[in-house]
Amino acid sequence: MHRKSYEKGELSKESVNGNPLQQFRTWFYETKDAGGVDEVNAMTLTTVDAEGFPRGRVVLLKKYDEYGFYFYTNYNSDKARSLELNNKVSLSFFWPNMERQIIIKGTVEKTSDTESNNYWQSRPKGSQLGALVSNQSSIVKDRSELEDKLKKLEEEYENKEVPRPKDWGGYLVSPLSIEFWQGRPNRLHDRIRYTLVDCDWIIERLQP
Ligand SMILES: Cc1cc2nc3c(=O)[nH]c(=O)nc-3n(C[C@H](O)[C@H](O)[C@H](O)COP(=O)(O)O)c2cc1C
Repeated sequence: MHRKSYEKGELSKESVNGNPLQQFRTWFYETKDAGGVDEVNAMTLTTVDAEGFPRGRVVLLKKYDEYGFYFYTNYNSDKARSLELNNKVSLSFFWPNMERQIIIKGTVEKTSDTESNNYWQSRPKGSQLGALVSNQSSIVKDRSELEDKLKKLEEEYENKEVPRPKDWGGYLVSPLSIEFWQGRPNRLHDRIRYTLVDCDWIIERLQP
C-alpha cells in the first residue's frame, strides 16, 4: 500500500499573508519554481447543473488579481449553462511537488468584452481557430467533421485576424473563502482557511 509522509512545509495563522490572494501568489510561484508540476495553473472548476449534479473539470487559470481568478471557455458549454443557473463554484489546485492543495469557494461573472478581447488577441492563431471550430460540449459525429471545419477556417483566415466569437470569453471567480492545505507528518496536516466577512478576511485553522 502506498503511504507517504508529508514533510515539505508548514502553515500557521501567524505566518500566512493577511490577504489570501497574496498568499496564493506566494504559493503559486513557490510551486512553479520548485519544478515538477507541468501546468501549475491547471485547476479543477466544479459547477452544479440544473439537476443538482456537481461536475468538476480542469481549466487553466489565466490571470489572478485582487478581484479573483480568471479562466476562459465557451459560453455555450456545459459549464457555462450550469453557471447561468447557478454562479456558485469551487476551484481547486493540487500541487503534489509541494504537498499542497488550495480550495476556493466563490461566485462567477463573465469578464468584460475588453478583458476577453485582450486575452483572445494574445492567443496563437491555432488556438483561436480551434475555439471557432468547437461548439464545446455538443455531440459531434466524428473527428473528421472538426478537422474539415478547421481546414476551411485556416484558408478563410490565412491573411486575416480571427475575431473573437461572441460565445467565447472569460469568467472571473470572486472568492468568498480560500483554504490552503499543507501536508504534514502523521496526517496532522495544516489547513488555514480565509473567509470573507464584511470585506475583511477572517483567518482560521481547521482540523486536518
Ligand atoms: C490541462 C487541461 C486544461 C484545460 N483548460 C481548459 C480551459 O482553459 N478552458 C476550457 O474551456 N477547457 C479546458 N480544458 C477542457 C475541460 O476540462 C473540459 O473538457 C471542457 O471545458 C468542456 O467542459 P464542459 O463540457 O464541462 O463545459 C482543459 C483540460 C485540461 C486537461
